[in-house]
Amino acid sequence: MNMAAALFNSSPTLLRFARQIANEIQGAVLDVPCGYGRNARLMSSLGCRVICLDNNTQAIAAIKNNASPNAGELVPMLCDLKKDPWTFPNNSLGAILNIHFVMPELLARFEQSLMPGGFLFIETYDNRGGNYLALPKPGEFENLLSPAFDFLYYIERRAGPPKSNACTVRLLAKKL
Ligand SMILES: C[S@@+](CC[C@H](N)C(=O)[O-])C[C@H]1O[C@@H](n2cnc3c(N)ncnc32)[C@H](O)[C@@H]1O
Repeated sequence: MNMAAALFNSSPTLLRFARQIANEIQGAVLDVPCGYGRNARLMSSLGCRVICLDNNTQAIAAIKNNASPNAGELVPMLCDLKKDPWTFPNNSLGAILNIHFVMPELLARFEQSLMPGGFLFIETYDNRGGNYLALPKPGEFENLLSPAFDFLYYIERRAGPPKSNACTVRLLAKKL
């Protein structure tokens, strides 16, 4: 698959930063969770090796490498983030994508496993239906990440009913 095909379905916000990430990273990208790989395919089309982690066996079975000689390898990994151990060594990954899956406990893992200079891209769920119940509080992600990261992009938007203390977040950060 070429980049034009890969970007069809990928996150528009990731698309803005994908080339910068691909050009600057040293190690593999972890897409966690990857779903059916719409964002992993974008990064692969830019030459990145992408570890595609999800607990859905069908989604993982659908992760297929494309034949283009310039595409980076897609490495499927079946893993339950709530039950299985986190196996990525410290300072080992070039970038982590965490899109449409909110689990704040993972942020410390992300920090440990990224290399210095590695990129963290997060896009929470959209503000739709009951999503606000699982979304972070305003400032929560910034507070958790700021000691170890420089923010290159950070957008929060209030989510849910007026009295809910929740927001959507889109961010790109670089580990110090
Ligand atoms: C809304 S999808 C987003 C997938 C992908 N990031 C994307 O943007 O297309 C959420 C994904 O989280 C996965 N998931 C849910 N719970 C999980 C868990 N405990 N461990 C690993 N993956 C999980 C689901 O299988 C699903 O593929």
